[in-house]
Amino acid sequence: MHWPVLSHGRSNVKDFVEQIQKRRTFAIISHPDAGKTTLTEKLLLYGGAIQQAGIVKGKKGARAAVSDWMEIEKQRGISVTSSVLQFEYDGYCINILDTPGHQDFSEDTYRTLMAADSAVMVIDAAKGVEAQTKKLFKVCTMRGIPIFTFINKMDREARNPFDLLEEIEQVLGIETYPMNWPIGSGKDFKGVYDRNAKEILAFQNVGKVGTQQAQKIEAHLGDENLDQLLTKPLHDTLKDDIELLDGAAYEFDKDKVDHGKLTPVFFGSALTNFGVEPFLADFLRLSMPPLPRTSDRGEIDPCSEDFSAFVFKIQANMNKAHRDRIAFMRICSGRFERGMDVYHVQGGKKIKLSQSTQLMASERETVDEAFAGDIIGIFDPGVFSIGDTITTAKVPFAYAGIPTFAPEHFARISQVDTMKRKQFVKGMEQIAQEGAIQIFKELGGGMEEVIVGVVGVLQFEVLEYRLKNEYNVDIRRNDLSYSYIRWIENEDLDPKTLNLTSDTRRVEDFKGRRLLLFTSPWNIDWALEHNEGLRLSEVGR
Ligand code: G4P
Repeated sequence: MHWPVLSHGRSNVKDFVEQIQKRRTFAIISHPDAGKTTLTEKLLLYGGAIQQAGIVKGKKGARAAVSDWMEIEKQRGISVTSSVLQFEYDGYCINILDTPGHQDFSEDTYRTLMAADSAVMVIDAAKGVEAQTKKLFKVCTMRGIPIFTFINKMDREARNPFDLLEEIEQVLGIETYPMNWPIGSGKDFKGVYDRNAKEILAFQNVGKVGTQQAQKIEAHLGDENLDQLLTKPLHDTLKDDIELLDGAAYEFDKDKVDHGKLTPVFFGSALTNFGVEPFLADFLRLSMPPLPRTSDRGEIDPCSEDFSAFVFKIQANMNKAHRDRIAFMRICSGRFERGMDVYHVQGGKKIKLSQSTQLMASERETVDEAFAGDIIGIFDPGVFSIGDTITTAKVPFAYAGIPTFAPEHFARISQVDTMKRKQFVKGMEQIAQEGAIQIFKELGGGMEEVIVGVVGVLQFEVLEYRLKNEYNVDIRRNDLSYSYIRWIENEDLDPKTLNLTSDTRRVEDFKGRRLLLFTSPWNIDWALEHNEGLRLSEVGR
């Protein structure tokens, strides 16, 4: 470990290391409606970051959603963008990264997960593993980070807990370890049994508000007094369940947790604020502080004296009044200080980080100081791209880039009013730089007509909406029948010389990389068979 030489003299080395060790940066994922927003809100309440429940999201129009910036999200009740919230709790500094629940935005989720050290998966106890849970979970496992599971809505009729665990194991392919065990559900929900402390956390429906702690009762399973507390049938079931779990379930293995091979499972009810605090306490105990990250110069220690960060998200026009562009960065090492000079590795230039913001709800606060593990938003005059590294290291290095997902839907986009060409080009380029869409053009062509590729079709709607609202441009969209994209890896090859089926299209992206668009996997095979030495890649690097 490098000990930082801190020139400013305010903090000492111990403080610096403590600051980093106390950071926990995680993303919450869930199928829409499983209770991600509600859980986030309760966590914020504990941290004192908000005083009132219901402030994070009022889907039915009562209050604007603080983690939803875009109008379209409010209209549809889905979360398109990811926001970042920070608060302190019990000596920890917690950064929560919210992720879009809709599968069409799973690429955004993937980028957000690049910035997270662990993930919390929220599951609706009545529904179990849902379609989007599967997709988002897959994205999580690509990162190999620890995953914690919160099975929510136990105050409603729930599925059998054994079935839920089995489903998680079968469908998601991860071992489970229940940290607590539910006693009944719905009207009969009595609380949860903490397997480690061997005590019962008694459920009382206190409604939506408050952070009061649930009553803890020391529980010796089999004691007669538990018959009264739980009713005899529920007490008997609990006894049998715990016996079964202790005998048959997976052992708790911290190493497996650290590598995302085993998920600690918690049962609770976010809405009634039940089980949230013990969840948070265990999560903080079991999750890890920022760990070293791989760069092209080897692993970079978070406690290194050199500051470094990478861009995982760019968002323009978050606030119409500001008309600005923010590059969200995850700090991977050292300490950030407002106004510091850093080297932008991909741009090959020194820059000053003067306008930095951190987001708490809809409020933006200027950040003067931040540490490895934190997320900062830097005003971006258009210099950053997703995956870029900035650092103060004397010998600069770059963190591994964030691969782009292969788009699966394509459309030809042109502007309705040709007089608005400038705005159209600017809007398309900016939205593409954010990584929300990918844009392609004919080989050697211009911007008259652009082919747009997206991972999920909803992104077309977001594009249309944003061009109209932010750039005042109406567009025409013609869907194309391509579904597969491959980047040509052979650098010296002229795509025009390739022997291809008539429905395969040659295009280039805005970095000048050449690609092929295919309508079927059969056509990809055909291209490879008829062009010796042709190398195609599914990801654009
Ligand atoms: P999301 O972000 O994952 O999409 O879900 P969100 O938290 O918005 O929750 C979806 C719905 O489920 C909300 O109801 C919310 O109140 C409810 N909910 C969340 N946690 C629990 C829980 O533990 N128990 C019960 N019974 N309900 C829960 P809604 O009717 O859509 O909105 P609202 O009118 O309550 O705001």
